[in-house]
Amino acid sequence: MLPGFDRVERVPRLTFRVRRMPYTGSIGDSPRRSCHRRTVRWQPNIMIEDWLDRWANGRTGWHEEDGNAGLKAHWPSIDAESHRKNRVLVPLCGKTPDLLWLTGHGHEVVGVELSDIAIRQFFAENQLSYRVEEGQPLDRYCADDIPLTLYHGDYFRFEDEPFDALFDRGAMVAVPGSRRAAYVEHTRNLLLPDATKMIITLEYDQSVTPGPPFAVLPEELAAAWPDVRRAAEYDDIDNCPPKFRAAGLQEILEVVWVSS
Ligand SMILES: C[S@@+](CC[C@H](N)C(=O)[O-])C[C@H]1O[C@@H](n2cnc3c(N)ncnc32)[C@H](O)[C@@H]1O
Repeated sequence: MLPGFDRVERVPRLTFRVRRMPYTGSIGDSPRRSCHRRTVRWQPNIMIEDWLDRWANGRTGWHEEDGNAGLKAHWPSIDAESHRKNRVLVPLCGKTPDLLWLTGHGHEVVGVELSDIAIRQFFAENQLSYRVEEGQPLDRYCADDIPLTLYHGDYFRFEDEPFDALFDRGAMVAVPGSRRAAYVEHTRNLLLPDATKMIITLEYDQSVTPGPPFAVLPEELAAAWPDVRRAAEYDDIDNCPPKFRAAGLQEILEVVWVSS
């Protein structure tokens, strides 16, 4: 999380009054309109345009300059002698420094990101040289000196050999409820059956504000990934988007889930 994250005290589990109405509108819809009065069909192109627009205009409030504290505290260590659990998939990776942290801990890392602005910024800001290889369906940006490849394009079109591990921060929570089952299925198909997993979710009352980021509550997470356990939770109200607080949200947890 942001600086000071690891000083945040563990808070008791919150109980949310959750209205069981998945948000299916576009990002620009107002909470009240989209959640309470009408249901808007999810439109992939609108979502994609919105993410690209965010990168083009520097609206990347989710980005953690110092990387994610939950990753550093709870990522399972790997056997340096073994190649198992070595290839890590990072869906919807943005330009997170977590990619570097993972390569620094002995992993071969593959990220997938829609925005080439994000990818180019990642390499430039970390002073990494790279080459671009055209591919189908996604081009790939390969770091020259570290085991890191970032694929540019729509994650739902990404294919590769099965991965040993998954790191998901800001990915599952970025996918609208109507699309999340497809996201989970696609991700599962990219992993070995016994892949190591770390998934970081947000828990809050979705009826107060529609997201993104979207709330992913424990029942949904457990149904999607039965082999993960709740490793830690952090009070995240100080780091949530200002629009959440403006909507009246008072409680939000960042939750770290890891496979055993
Ligand atoms: C909330 S951000 C999280 C980024 C990163 N995981 C982090 O922790 O900083 C979500 C990212 O997913 C990207 N994205 C959204 N939809 C995508 C898609 N269908 N395929 C690939 N990337 C996508 C966005 O461009 C954005 O960078």
